[in-house]
Amino acid sequence: MKIGVIGTGYVGMVTAVGLADLGHNVIGTDKVTKKIEKASKGIVPIYEPGLGDLLKKNLKNGNLSFSPDLEETIRSSDVLFVCVNTPQRKDGSADMSFVEGVSRCIAENLNGYKLIVEKSTVPVRTSSWIKRTISLYKNKEYSFDVASNPEFLREGSALSDFLNPDRIVIGVESEKARNILLKIYKKYKEKIHITNIDTAELIKHASNSFLAMKISFINLISDLCEKTDADVEFVAKGMGLDSRIGKQFLKAGLGYGGSCFPKDVRALVKIGEDLGIGMKLLKEVDRINLARIDMFINKIKEALWILKNKKLAVLGLSFKPRTDDIRNAPSLNIIERLLEEESQLILYDPEAIENTKTYFPEKTKGIHYAESALEALTNANAALFITEWEEFKKLDLYKAKQLMSNPIIIDGRNIFEPDKVRKLGFEYYSVGRK
Ligand code: UDX
Repeated sequence: MKIGVIGTGYVGMVTAVGLADLGHNVIGTDKVTKKIEKASKGIVPIYEPGLGDLLKKNLKNGNLSFSPDLEETIRSSDVLFVCVNTPQRKDGSADMSFVEGVSRCIAENLNGYKLIVEKSTVPVRTSSWIKRTISLYKNKEYSFDVASNPEFLREGSALSDFLNPDRIVIGVESEKARNILLKIYKKYKEKIHITNIDTAELIKHASNSFLAMKISFINLISDLCEKTDADVEFVAKGMGLDSRIGKQFLKAGLGYGGSCFPKDVRALVKIGEDLGIGMKLLKEVDRINLARIDMFINKIKEALWILKNKKLAVLGLSFKPRTDDIRNAPSLNIIERLLEEESQLILYDPEAIENTKTYFPEKTKGIHYAESALEALTNANAALFITEWEEFKKLDLYKAKQLMSNPIIIDGRNIFEPDKVRKLGFEYYSVGRK
């Protein structure tokens, strides 16, 4: 059985490498030929721990190869995993034109039975559209199936999420499709959850929206804590000890970013509204998340009053630690707001500086890039912690204090222990705690 993976972004690349590592014969393709050239040489275009090593290993043992030729990849594969992106459109819905384009290409190159597996996050009922598209354009001789196998990987731990999944959701509507996917995921027999296709598609959007809701919920509670003597870290811990709630995704701070949660929440709102269902709950989740930026800017103003010409060390640019991804990162909105205030910003991140430079080029007025956290802190009027990188947790705060003009920390992710930092002589602002 030969598996083709269409699209080699985060999801596609991890899927291709992961499936190859399970022992399958995998070919990856992408319309961006540069990505394919790099991948063929064992170079991963993204920062993802462990991915480079596993890519090289599977290129070497022959389980994995890459081709820029989509048509040839389709013709030579028995199973096709569709991992193309579904970007957000202005009205919040997912843009499905790449999925449609790939479906047409599959139809035109159908040269035998094939199983088409949706891996990208797609609105419920997408499989029906894929099926219809392929039926409209295919050579009548050959049959095919469509299945849904949503991906739950998190950036920064994508590979271990793929190789040690909590569950593998498989949405199928034929015995043949079911058996093929069971064979592919043989190793994870115990973890497979088989449903119909609409259910599998909805599981993905529902899971991401639920996690986003948990984050907005704790951020709402965090605002309540700030008006009282409660401490959000302890509230979260106390809630999380109840196994029905669980302790994960209850970290208050600057809210969620990334390529999934903001987009998926809005997409589910649109799906629900199109079906005539009131989606206020999830709209509020989105609103609370966007309001985290105001919360943070207000804290900086509380500390410094006027932000014009203040030198601010911006520590952390990626939307979360262990990734170089800045898509929908809170840092971008915060930087934009501070530039409007005419602050002088010194930006530092362990991995995301290059990506941030494409957003805020080096010549941008008010922006400077530093090579280390301590360099960014030198002569700063305040330190703004935006992403909870391990490196920041281990920062030599004693040295930091000596370098800064004013020892003020505004910690958007509750990285530090308030008592410890204050003992060192810092004025310390955190989220949802005193
Ligand atoms: C998410 C889902 O976890 C994953 O299953 C799905 O496939 C893709 O979307 P990812 O976007 O990589 O993964 O990041 P995740 O670790 O889930 O974090 C998302 C955002 O929420 C980050 O900005 C993070 O900082 C924020 N977050 C997370 C919080 O603010 N508080 C938390 O308690 C947890």
